[in-house]
Amino acid sequence: MKNEVLVAPSILSADFACLADEARLMEKAGADWLHVDVMDGHFVPNITIGPVVVKSLKKHTLLPLDVHLMITDPIKYAEPFAKAGAWGLTFHLESVQDPYQAIEAFVKLGVKPAASIKPKTPASAILPYLKHLHHVLVMTVEPGFGGQPFMSDMLPKITEIANYIKINKLACKVEVDGGIDTATGAECIKAGAHILVAGHFVFSALDPVEAIKSLKRLAVTS
Ligand code: DX5
Ligand code: ZN
Repeated sequence: MKNEVLVAPSILSADFACLADEARLMEKAGADWLHVDVMDGHFVPNITIGPVVVKSLKKHTLLPLDVHLMITDPIKYAEPFAKAGAWGLTFHLESVQDPYQAIEAFVKLGVKPAASIKPKTPASAILPYLKHLHHVLVMTVEPGFGGQPFMSDMLPKITEIANYIKINKLACKVEVDGGIDTATGAECIKAGAHILVAGHFVFSALDPVEAIKSLKRLAVTS
């Protein structure tokens, strides 16, 4: 049986001076979600965007905004991002004391709750929360910057999480983020991933539309 692969281009690698056009292009190309990387210069050594940009983006695209919060206090900022139009909010497990508190806050705000783990965080840390999550984001680079090489040693972690989801018949989907192209994307899918985030591969391509399509063609065989 072949299952669909969802593709979420990361606007971090887009031209920030023409975000509306870039978002429209992704929508036309068949992207499923738009991945929005929020960085605070504290949780990660880079600063990107805040709720005002999400609010503007929301006016120009129908794509679900998959907002990845790489920030120290995701619970505090969940409401402004939800109000700005985030469809899903992802917090980092490493940034909260009580993951349930974050999940509960996100659910109350009406957004899809998701959580992410950095490369050094083991799968075992996230397993107890999967039944409450819409999706889990496995980082395949150290968060902070686009265009980094894929860490293939993350593949067993993806498999461990995907197997746990299967065995326990959970609805949670596995999303991967960092260094994804058609080759690494195919490996992630083989390992059990359902959603591919891709920044550099899409936005630096001569033909971003074809880049999205090439990722969409990678099918999950189960
Ligand atoms: C990294 C971000 C990623 C990044 C992916 O901290 O979370 O979403 O934009 O970019 P690429 O695909 O270029 O590695
Ligand atoms: Zn991201």
